[in-house]
Amino acid sequence: MAGTGTRWPYTLAMNTYYVTTPIYYVNDRPHIGHCYTTLLADVAARFQRMRIGSPEQVFCLTGTDEHAEKVVQSAADRGLSPIEWADRNAGEFRSAFKAMNFSNDDFVRTTEDRHKTKASEYIQKLVDSGDIELGDYEGWWDGSQEEYLTERVAKEADYISPVTGKPLEKRVEQNYFFRLDKYESWLKEQYESGAIRMLPGARKNEVMGRLRQGLQKVPVSRRIKEDDADWGIRMPNDPEHRIYVWIEALCNYLTVVDTPERQKFWPADVHVMAKDILWFHAVIWPAMLHALGKEIPKTVYAHAYWIREGRKMSKSLGNFIEIELLEAYCKKYSTDAVRWYLLTQGPLGANDADFAHEHFVEMYNADLANSVGNSMSRVGNMIGKYFEGELPMLCNGEFGLPGGTALGTLLAARANAGKPVDDGSRTFNFPEITKAAVDRAIEAADDFEIDEMVRQGLVIVRAVDDFISYTAPFTLAKQLDELEDGRHALATMLYSCAEALRIASLLLAPAMPEKMAEFWGYWNCAPAEGVPLSVLAEFGGAHKLAKGQKIDKGEALFMRADVKEDPPVVG
Ligand code: MSP
Repeated sequence: MAGTGTRWPYTLAMNTYYVTTPIYYVNDRPHIGHCYTTLLADVAARFQRMRIGSPEQVFCLTGTDEHAEKVVQSAADRGLSPIEWADRNAGEFRSAFKAMNFSNDDFVRTTEDRHKTKASEYIQKLVDSGDIELGDYEGWWDGSQEEYLTERVAKEADYISPVTGKPLEKRVEQNYFFRLDKYESWLKEQYESGAIRMLPGARKNEVMGRLRQGLQKVPVSRRIKEDDADWGIRMPNDPEHRIYVWIEALCNYLTVVDTPERQKFWPADVHVMAKDILWFHAVIWPAMLHALGKEIPKTVYAHAYWIREGRKMSKSLGNFIEIELLEAYCKKYSTDAVRWYLLTQGPLGANDADFAHEHFVEMYNADLANSVGNSMSRVGNMIGKYFEGELPMLCNGEFGLPGGTALGTLLAARANAGKPVDDGSRTFNFPEITKAAVDRAIEAADDFEIDEMVRQGLVIVRAVDDFISYTAPFTLAKQLDELEDGRHALATMLYSCAEALRIASLLLAPAMPEKMAEFWGYWNCAPAEGVPLSVLAEFGGAHKLAKGQKIDKGEALFMRADVKEDPPVVG
């Protein structure tokens, strides 16, 4: 992957994993963007739980960012107190994430005491160390984003919000400032030395470019006005001021794990977000952490955006793919199919991705109905038909194309069926194929290439499909009476396919936990708990499919869909 640079020794010894998502503005309705980022974190966490083999070593955090000024206003518009409004919307995020089957270990709300207390402590510490100081600030306020833009950025944007298109407001305030300027060369060094990774590479170039233009102090508080609602966290040293919402929001990543039981998770392995908020995470947050004497996150990953049928999603266009529409897709095609589509077709790298119905159905058919589902039921069916649903044999060192006389009989069988006889050079070495896929998945996970990681399961499925069309076991099955060793050859071939699909299912499970659990039920092969992936996924190893194991062909995991079908609708 571009810009990843050297391999990371920490990953080799890593025995904990901590992944975070942004905490979402509690004013917004959950939509595809929030679900996508949280899905990436969920799948990374599920994969690492399996890779490490010990779920309690992994921590996945998401939540809501609640102290924004606009919460006060929108609550008032509805006749509610800010906390009532926040409670309601935080609940919406929680239930949206449940609908998407996310496995986050915690859900933080910035209105919780555990967050407020710790965030205040950090700010006080920065005041004590002189990293936060009082001064005058003049800047361009983007009210919709609760963010100050510098003169240069504001000018470039023609003094209108690059996000909402509303005019920026010039504000002069007496504020507390974080001395970000002190950390300019230290930050550059962290990126240049690789102490912190910023991915994907294109994003790193942008941030480095901006870093080279120099850093200024950052305002971290706002003076409370008389008629202001009591909302937000006050500056611990000066209660006339409220901590600027972005600054305390960033602290969530640390406040939640700053306990004796959870401190093992710090520093975070990866903060995931979209490109809109990279600067806060890649520059301000590491500098704050450094000033606090804390370790900095290992990776900051900023993906691109979902757009819809070729157009940007925005409030003014009213074309967000909201959770209700995603739920309608989940109902029609299964939650796992939606997860798969978002993961494999999403904007993980530097380019935006389009959500288009036709494309969804095409990918659903190609990857799931015709590949994963079909391959699993095909192999299950053949074991059912030719071996009464009992897995025929252990592989005994044989795999794929059987050697010796068995191979001869196989090829003869194919010749008899009128198919071209191959020279036998294709070996379909499934132990190697599956090991390469598992190794690649682990490597991709380290680089947060989540799409590549989950696709490795499909790579194995495709190899099995290829093997089946190449060796035609169904043809061989018709000629067993005539062929010496034919049954042995058939058993070897089907065992190999089944064992390869078992390993594929492990790699597919983080993306499609429900469907793979269903598959494990049919095949009686749920992975043992507490065993790392490298051991679970060994072809013919300690956790292999057992001889005589009952294989139930089960229901089709994914029914084929018609591209011409109307898209699901909300309601
Ligand atoms: N509250 C801040 C984050 C504070 S983190 C300490 C915030 N919240 S947000 O609700 O606006 O969420 C922004 C994030 O939502 C993006 O960084 C991204 O993770 C996700 N997405 C929002 N729209 C998106 C798309 N159209 N596409 C993909 N993800 C997007 O910023």
